Order: sequence, then structure tokens, then C-alpha cells
Amino acid sequence: MGSDSSDLFDSLCLVGFMGSGKSTVGRLLADRLGWVFVDLDREIESVTGKSVTRMFAESGEVEFRKMEAELGLKLVGRPRTVLATGGGWGAVAGRLESLHESVCTVWLQVSPEVAVDRIRLQAPVRPLLHGASDPLWEARSLLAIRAPQYEAARFHVDTSGREVTEVVSAVLKHMRSGHRTRPS
Ligand code: S3P
Repeated sequence: MGSDSSDLFDSLCLVGFMGSGKSTVGRLLADRLGWVFVDLDREIESVTGKSVTRMFAESGEVEFRKMEAELGLKLVGRPRTVLATGGGWGAVAGRLESLHESVCTVWLQVSPEVAVDRIRLQAPVRPLLHGASDPLWEARSLLAIRAPQYEAARFHVDTSGREVTEVVSAVLKHMRSGHRTRPS
């Protein structure tokens, strides 16, 4: 634990589409770095006392986005912390550019096909895709809109067809090198 720590960054922020593995990869990265892991969706759930699905249904997406924005900005950049954001957080124009340079932002890339495939196997906790009549069409459209914003992340790591451990290694390598590279 802690042997992979980076001198260049003291905080890590994972962004990307649903099903890109932000939480799974983030947890493992925190373990490897000896840092704290924080999952934005879980924090929202703990503050509101409602699941993300229930929030969407009862309070609406606008209310969810407000809470997501506020809490995310409060949590991002905490020292020695890996923050796994929800798919919408890093998709806001200008948000990633506004973060301090000590925050290592990483876009975990996934194709709409792989994202929908991964999500299909999981519990129905993503109202945007699980509620859609054509999840693949929805994923393609959403990703097309969001990609230009995710693009602002310092590093881009493709996750499609890769094991979690490979993705973790790629992120750590970028963190140590500090050079902006895309995609890996
Ligand atoms: C969302 C992604 C979800 C969750 C909510 C909305 C999105 O998080 O925040 O369902 O807008 O892409 P994950 O990216 O962790 O699935």
C-alpha cells in the first residue's frame, strides 16, 4: 500500500461515462496509492438518505444535478483522495478546466456498446439508461454530447476490453510521468 504514490499530484479525479469502471478502478487505485477512496454517488446517497434512482424519480434530474455539482466541488481536490464521480459530473463544460493543477483528472473511456453491455449485467441503478427504451441509442447520444467535456481531463485511458488491473496500471503510469497523453 502506498508504494505507487505520485509526486506530481496529490489528488485524483476519475470522470467518464456510466459503465467505464470509475468506482471499481478508483477503489483499487486508492488502495495502490494508499489514499482515501470517495464515490460521489454514494456521498449523495448518504447526504440525502435516498438512492440515486429514488432521487431521480422523486426530486427529478435537475435537483440531482444541483446536489451532484455542489458535493462534487466540495470533495474534488482533497489531498490523497481518489474521487470517482458520476457520469454527469465531468460532463459539465468548463468544470475540469477549473480544477487546480494538483488534481490529476482522468477520463476512463468506454464505447457505448461496452458501457451498455456492462450496465446490463448490473443492478438497475442508472435511471438514464435503465429507463431508456433504447439504451444503446441513448448511450451513443449522451456520450456524443459529453465527450468534448470529458476530453478536458489531463489523461485519457481506454477501458474497453481491458482488465481492471491494466486500467489501474495505465492510470498510475500517467500519474508518475505527468505528461499529458491521449489516448492510452
Ligand atoms: C449518471 C451516472 C451515474 C449516476 C446517475 C447519473 C450520468 O453514475 O450519477 O445515474 O448522468 O451519467 P455512474 O457514472 O457511476 O454510473
